[in-house]
Amino acid sequence: MLNILRQRRSVRDFTQEKIPPKSIETLREAVLRAPSSRNNQPWQFIFVEQRSLIEQLAKSKAHGTRFLETAQLALVVLADPEISDVWIEDCSIAAITAQYAAESLGLKSCWGQLRLRPHDDQISASDYVRQLLDIPEKFEVPIVVGFGFPPETPKGHAVAELPRKKLHQNRFTEEN
Ligand SMILES: Cc1cc2nc3c(=O)[nH]c(=O)nc-3n(C[C@H](O)[C@H](O)[C@H](O)COP(=O)(O)O)c2cc1C
Repeated sequence: MLNILRQRRSVRDFTQEKIPPKSIETLREAVLRAPSSRNNQPWQFIFVEQRSLIEQLAKSKAHGTRFLETAQLALVVLADPEISDVWIEDCSIAAITAQYAAESLGLKSCWGQLRLRPHDDQISASDYVRQLLDIPEKFEVPIVVGFGFPPETPKGHAVAELPRKKLHQNRFTEEN
């Protein structure tokens, strides 16, 4: 797990190599193992492998989801806010769980933020994806994650570059 934490980077360019079905099945298992508040599991997951749909998902936002163009798999995370008031947290945890599981499978990934982001000046990125994938109105659509194999493996962040000023000991202190 520590090695996975150390090596994880967002990758936005993927090779054409297909993701083995077994790896996709592992990702499907991983998201369902994500913890959720009160175990309410307000999320649902759409695994998109159809090329034409992935290309449409890449257009969810003007720029920030373009990386999906080369992704071999897109995972759309949705949630029913009636099931949990902390559905944002639950969805985020499921998304990062999938990203770490992907690292362990030799895949790379990148998070695409949909919630609170526009598709264009008419509709939101979430509404665009909702329409594209026939998602019922009652669901929120906060995140899409793209996966694939990287053309080259980026280095994890160097330990010396970690923002240690954000760490505090016992109490908040300005001078650390
Ligand atoms: C909540 C959240 C939203 C993000 N949204 C996007 C996005 O819409 N598009 C994108 O290319 N990357 C997105 N990212 C990836 C971040 O840009 C990336 O994690 C950050 O720059 C740090 O780089 P690293 O992941 O390689 O450490 C998002 C990450 C998080 C956690």
